[in-house]
Amino acid sequence: MNQNKGFYITTPIYYVNDIPHIGHAYTTVAADILSRYMRLKGREVFFLTGTDEHGQKVEKAAQQKGKNPKEHADIMVENFKNLWKALNISNDAFIRTTDEDHKKTVQYIMQKLFDKGEIVKKKYSGMYCTPCERFWTEKDLIEGKCPDCGREVDCIEEENYFFLMSKYQQPLIEYIESNPGYILPESRKNEVLGFLKSKPLGDLCISRPKQRLQWGITLPFDEDYVTYVWFDALVNYYSALNYLAPSHIEWWPPDHHLIGKDILTTHAVYWSTMLMALELPLPRNIFAHGWWTVEGKKMSKSLGNVVNPWEIIDKYGVDAFRYFLFREVSFGLDGDFSEEALIRRINNDLANDLGNLLNRFLAMNEKYMKGKIEKHYKDDNFSKEIVNLTREIDDEKLWDEFKFNIVLEKIWNAVSLTNNYIAKKEPWRLSKEAPEKLPHILFNIWNAIRIIAVFLYPFMPDKALKIWDALGLREYGIDYKMLNWEIEIKEIKTQKVEQLFPRIEKQEVKKKQEEKVEDLIGIEDFMKIKLRVGKVLSAERVKGSKKLIKLIVDIGEQRQIVAGIGEQYSPEDLIGKFIVVLSNLKPAKLMGVESQGMLLAATGNDGKISILTVEKEVNPGSSIK
Ligand code: MSP
Repeated sequence: MNQNKGFYITTPIYYVNDIPHIGHAYTTVAADILSRYMRLKGREVFFLTGTDEHGQKVEKAAQQKGKNPKEHADIMVENFKNLWKALNISNDAFIRTTDEDHKKTVQYIMQKLFDKGEIVKKKYSGMYCTPCERFWTEKDLIEGKCPDCGREVDCIEEENYFFLMSKYQQPLIEYIESNPGYILPESRKNEVLGFLKSKPLGDLCISRPKQRLQWGITLPFDEDYVTYVWFDALVNYYSALNYLAPSHIEWWPPDHHLIGKDILTTHAVYWSTMLMALELPLPRNIFAHGWWTVEGKKMSKSLGNVVNPWEIIDKYGVDAFRYFLFREVSFGLDGDFSEEALIRRINNDLANDLGNLLNRFLAMNEKYMKGKIEKHYKDDNFSKEIVNLTREIDDEKLWDEFKFNIVLEKIWNAVSLTNNYIAKKEPWRLSKEAPEKLPHILFNIWNAIRIIAVFLYPFMPDKALKIWDALGLREYGIDYKMLNWEIEIKEIKTQKVEQLFPRIEKQEVKKKQEEKVEDLIGIEDFMKIKLRVGKVLSAERVKGSKKLIKLIVDIGEQRQIVAGIGEQYSPEDLIGKFIVVLSNLKPAKLMGVESQGMLLAATGNDGKISILTVEKEVNPGSSIK
C-alpha cells in the first residue's frame, strides 16, 4: 500500500428514493470502520459517500408527490444524512449527483470519450425493465420477465449512445488476473472472470432519449439525450475529488470501492472499462460484501421485514448495532439478521465479557488503589501475551481485506485473556495476603484495557471513548501510539462509569429459548426417519394442478411421489436428478394421486422452492445419515 498518498475510500451512492435500511448502513459503517482505523494510524483519509439522484424512479416519485425531482431529492437526501449522523459515520464529504460540479465532470468525461471515438450512436432494440431502468436481451429474461425484479418488461427500439465496452474485454481479464487484490473476496473475482470469459462482452448503452427520461444529465454532444444512471453514478468517485476535495486530486485512484454483491458487475466491468478508456488508473480494490437476510428471508418491502436502522439504534444503541453487523458474519458472506442474535451478542460479548471486565477493574482499582494508576512495567507473561495479540490484531492485511470479524475475534481474545488474568491473580485475595503485589497487577489490567479500547474505537467510537474516560485518559487522544504496551503517563485516576452495556432481559427471548429446548430431538428420534437418495426416472404434471408434479423415483425400488414444486420446476428439469426422499412417510393422496414418500426442498431467499440434490453421483437407494 502506498503510504505516502492519502487513503481514499468510497461507498456506493444510494438511490434517494429508498428509505435507508440495514443494507445501506452496512456498507457505510464498514467504510467508517476502516477510515477510523487508518486515521488512528495517522493516515490522511478521504471517505466519500453520497446519493444517486437521477433516473426514472425519482422522476416518477416526484411527479406523484406534485414536486419537481430536485425538490423531492432534497427532502429524501436528509434521510441518509441524518442516519449517518446517528450511526456516527465520519465521512469527509457527501456527494449528490445533482451537484452542478458533478454534472459538469460527467459532461466533460463524456465529451472526452466521444472525441476519442469511445462513444458512438447505434440503433438498439431490447427488453426494457422500467423499475430497474435496464435493458435485457431475450435470453436474459426469466419466463419473459425481468431477471432481477421479476416484473413485466417492454420491448423498446430506439437510437442511443453506446460506450464501446466490448473492446476492453481482454485487457480487463488480463488486468484482473495480474492484480489479485483488485476484486475481493476471491470468490467475487472468480465470478467476474467467469462472466468475462464465458461470452462476448457487449457495448454499454449510456443514454436515454429525453422524450422518455428528462431527469438526467444532458449529453454535451446531443441535446436530445440524457445519460443513463450508471454512467452518471459511477463517475461520482472521480468527480468528488475534483470539487469536494481539490487538494486531494493526486489521491486518485481510490484505495477501496466498497459495494454490495448486487452491484459488482457495474463496478468491476463497466467502471473498470470506463477508466481504461479514459486512461485513468483503476482503483486499488473493489470489495463486494454479502447481503443481509432477515430471520432467513430476503428483506423486502412486500414482506414487510425491512430492518430499519433507526429502530435498532433506538432500542439497542448505535455501538451495539455496529458491533453486531461486523462480528456476526464474515464481511464477504451473506448474513442473517435477527433481534435474538443481536441480543445474544449484546449479553454475551458486550455485557458479560467486555462490560464486566471494565466494571470489575474500575471497582477494584477504586477499592485498592483509590482510583490511582501507578506505572509498573514488567516483562511478565501477561504483558508478552497482550503485546503479541496487539501485533496480530494490528495486522494491516486483516483490516485492508475487511476481515473485521477476525479482528473482533482477536480483540475478544485479549478481553478473555484479561478476564482470566483477574481470575487467576485473585486481587481480592492478594489485598489481604500480599497487598504489595496489587499495584502491578492492576496496572497490567489497566494497560490491557487501554489497548483493547484503542482497537475498539473504529468499531464502537462512542463506547471506546467512554472506556477511555473511565481509564482516566481523557487528556490523551486515542491514537496509534496508545497501542504501545509502554507509554509515558502523568498522574492518572480512573473513574467509575455507568454500565456501558446493560444486559437485555427479554421475556420473549427467554420464552423462545425454552421453546427451542423443547423442540430438540434425541438421536433415537432421528433414527426413525429414513432418508434415501432417489433418482428421478420420470415426471409429469398432475392433471388440473399448477403445483403438483408426479414423479417416479428409484430409491432402490420404484416409488411414486407427488410434490408441490410445479411452479418452480417443469417435469423435464427433474428427470435424471438425484434427490433426497423421506421414504418411510405414510402414503397419502394428493388430488387423488397417491404419494409414497416426500422429496426434500428448501425455500430460497426469493421465496421460491429449491429441491435438495446430491452433489456427487450416488447409488439410488443409498441411505442418508
Ligand atoms: N445507486 C446505486 C449505486 C451506485 S454506485 C456508483 C445503488 N444504490 S442502492 O441504494 O440500491 O444500494 C446501494 C447499496 O446497498 C448496495 O451496495 C447494496 O448492496 C446495498 N444493499 C441493499 N440491500 C442490501 C441488503 N439486504 N444487505 C446488504 N446490503 C444491501 O445500487
